[in-house]
Amino acid sequence: MSDLVTKILEKKNREKIVCLTAYTFPMAKILDQFCDVILVGDSLGMTIYGFSDTVDVTLEMMINHGKAVMRAVEKSFVVVDLPFGTYENSPKQALESAQKVIAQTGCHAIKIETSRDLVATVKFLVENKINVMAHVGLLPQSVRKIGGYKYQGRSQEAAAEILETAKLLEKAGAFSVVIEAVPEKLAAEISRSIQIPTIGIGASGECDGQVLVIDDLLGLNQAFKPRFVKYYADLANEISRAVKSFSTDVKSKNFPTKENLV
Ligand code: KIV
Repeated sequence: MSDLVTKILEKKNREKIVCLTAYTFPMAKILDQFCDVILVGDSLGMTIYGFSDTVDVTLEMMINHGKAVMRAVEKSFVVVDLPFGTYENSPKQALESAQKVIAQTGCHAIKIETSRDLVATVKFLVENKINVMAHVGLLPQSVRKIGGYKYQGRSQEAAAEILETAKLLEKAGAFSVVIEAVPEKLAAEISRSIQIPTIGIGASGECDGQVLVIDDLLGLNQAFKPRFVKYYADLANEISRAVKSFSTDVKSKNFPTKENLV
């Protein structure tokens, strides 16, 4: 196991893990100062490309944004998502995709969305020296199949299945598990039951760390706000204000002025 992974594992029960998504060089440069883990999430399908979900994201998109992020990062642990359709068919397909992403970006780990039938794939990846972050609960790549972004693990049966999957993923060698959109009680039980760190999104403060999509944290997309999102800034309005000022200045010939001449 690499030193970088050991550092993440050692945080369990000591300090909370700070994780945010980044997709570009300038954003990663800023986040690198404050994050333990930077996730090049396939949420970039929505935040960068304007898709309505993550299903049409390609491996090439993930590689390009992974490269941009890796150029900026000096200290954080960088995880890149494998997108829909690039790992589910067979362990061999998953390994080829993971190796391609790691070889071309230099990232430290990959993340895949994992139900019980992907446990063998996780084991195969780990046996082939790939650091795997798993993802349980709400799996955004399945939203078309399940009919939207719905909280998971509400019934006793569903909760037991997610808990059992998390245990199997630990056994298969995943170094961490993202838990998305499940009740607090279940997130707490998973976090207590496995020795690898859990990173929550919409899964309460009972997880070992928290992740948010950076655009949500910054208030860049205010059209839809799930309950688990907290705005730490109002950048959508701040950008509007700045661009409106620029537009007014250009039209009124207040930009450029003599000060801006080369
Ligand atoms: O793609 C993503 O940004 C994610 C996080 C929401 C965990 O998977």
